[in-house]
Amino acid sequence: MIGRLNHVAIVVPDLDAAAALYRDTLGAKVSAPQPLEDHGVTTVFVDLGNTRIELLHPLGDDSPIGRFLERHPDGGMHHVCYEVDDILAARDQLQAQGGRVLGDGEPRTGAHGKPVLFLHPKDFCGTLVEIEQV
Ligand code: CO
Repeated sequence: MIGRLNHVAIVVPDLDAAAALYRDTLGAKVSAPQPLEDHGVTTVFVDLGNTRIELLHPLGDDSPIGRFLERHPDGGMHHVCYEVDDILAARDQLQAQGGRVLGDGEPRTGAHGKPVLFLHPKDFCGTLVEIEQV
């Protein structure tokens, strides 16, 4: 069902410092910061050729990653995103096997303008999983 690893998301306390770390210390190709108000995050994309790293920083007061940063003040890995061909078919198959989908179960538009869903970390080895239809 799942295809390629689309991205790994890392929450960071200082987006400029994290972008500089990936650009200057690790020598990666790094985008400009992109504020995504609908998602309550500002992102920097790190292009690794075969996949991406998404650096995430809270935007606004009720950011979904605000609490994560409170619990992990140094930042940390937040989720992995796998590609799927058909997000509704993937959701139905996962739910039929007991996998819990977060929110109301309906896909929303993710950071790349494609439909996404998040799966409960307790059902997936303690890791928050995003699936994205590509
Ligand atoms: Co993501």
